[in-house]
Amino acid sequence: MADNLIYVLNGPNLNLLGTREPEIYGRDTLDDIAGRLEDRARELGLEVDVRQSNHEGHLVDWLHEAQAEGVKAVLLNAGAYTHTSIALHDAIKSIRTPVIEVHLSNPHTREEFRHISYVGRAAKGTIAGFGAASYLLALAAAAEL
Ligand code: DQA
Repeated sequence: MADNLIYVLNGPNLNLLGTREPEIYGRDTLDDIAGRLEDRARELGLEVDVRQSNHEGHLVDWLHEAQAEGVKAVLLNAGAYTHTSIALHDAIKSIRTPVIEVHLSNPHTREEFRHISYVGRAAKGTIAGFGAASYLLALAAAAEL
């Protein structure tokens, strides 16, 4: 059991944070966010394992792994797969590990095609719209579970 461990899973294009549309996603890189999460996790008596993939199946595999490893929770920013992936929806439904949906931006204030979230329909809850702080807020929520 890894019951003080939180997986922080990031989907497509989030490897480009820092330079990708900074007016929407901010100037922090994923490494910057990972560093802040590690610091906050330590204060909360938790550990984070931050991963990123541009491939949908990797995210599915990591969700299964989260359950197999007995991690406390998953923070999932599935990027654009949020709005398309029934496979991610089903993977979240297939595990008992709580999954918290995270977004830097608030998809509901953006294009119509971002208003559907297959991830959100299966997740325990959602934190969106606070930039990099969305991840820290989601970690605080995970700590309360
Ligand atoms: C995002 C929002 C998604 O709509 C978009 O496709 C992303 C990033 C966010 O964190 O704001 O890649 O998940």
